[in-house]
Amino acid sequence: MPIRKATSCANSNIALIKYWGNRDDKLRLPTNGSISITLDGLTTTTTVTFDPALAADQVQIGAGIVSGEAAARVSQHLDHVRQLAGVTDHAEVVSVNNFPTGVGIASSASAFAALSLAATAALGLSLSERALSSLARLGSGSAARSIPGGFVEWYAADQHADSYAESFAPADYWSLIDLIAIVSRTHKTTGSTEGHALANSSPYQATRVATAPERIARCKQAVLARDFDALAEVVEHDSTLMHAVMMTGNPALFYWQPSTLAIMASVREWRAAGLPVCYTIDAGANVHCLTLPDQADAIRTRLRAVPGVEEVLYAAPGGPAHLLERLIASP
Ligand code: DP6
Repeated sequence: MPIRKATSCANSNIALIKYWGNRDDKLRLPTNGSISITLDGLTTTTTVTFDPALAADQVQIGAGIVSGEAAARVSQHLDHVRQLAGVTDHAEVVSVNNFPTGVGIASSASAFAALSLAATAALGLSLSERALSSLARLGSGSAARSIPGGFVEWYAADQHADSYAESFAPADYWSLIDLIAIVSRTHKTTGSTEGHALANSSPYQATRVATAPERIARCKQAVLARDFDALAEVVEHDSTLMHAVMMTGNPALFYWQPSTLAIMASVREWRAAGLPVCYTIDAGANVHCLTLPDQADAIRTRLRAVPGVEEVLYAAPGGPAHLLERLIASP
């Protein structure tokens, strides 16, 4: 077998309507659908090289070789791709994030999206965007949403092939800006995978899941109408519902820090005073603040002045995962 190699690029995404809890943990089939924006410039670039001479998979993220659970998760994902292509060769994976690492911004979405595209392309598989999204989902649920670009919906379903994400509006449809206020660089104590498995231990999860379709419909409508006020209302409510589930599970998960709450209070105050800004928070202490381009500089300056804010990242809606290079060479 020749050496087969491909490089791809995928953006991170921020959920406007959140995914929390799976109906099937192994297949990462989510309990509810979700909505996200693909984030331009928060990118993972991954090169996968299948080489018959390798005795095992080798995974490098940034400058460091990865071992243990993180490497095993990548290898397991490569197994899905090897099975699809009917090959057994091991691979070298080299992955680089262009956003500051260790700032508590989840990289699993862009990482598994880029890995899925590079690995399938290297082996000559040409998957549809839908099939690629389902495949990426097996590595990390939110990675399904980093395959398409722009404004994205990920469908909940009982079957692997039916749970995928697709774009419902392109990136240039509405230039919503995500200002990410970094308040903590520490690694979260409970990762998402572990957290999803606890979702059902909260008495509020059933209500959150049952009411999710209505929020998805409202959120899509707000995006399609470019109605910031309607978007702000549903996005903040959905984020709070997810954190209520996290806080009331067993064990309870508290991701917020005092500075997280300080930002939330400021954002609500600024919006009450007429500024277009709202927040949403993932499984961590950092706060994603959504706003419009003409107010982004002013909001960024205000966010930097909130005690505890270390840095504010800027991202506009971005495009789909794409291939940069593909090469087949004799060993
Ligand atoms: C809070 O996709 O990171 O960001 O499937 O275990 O990799 P795994 O979890 P992940 O969970 C994301 C959870 C969230 C909400 C969201 O992005 O919808």
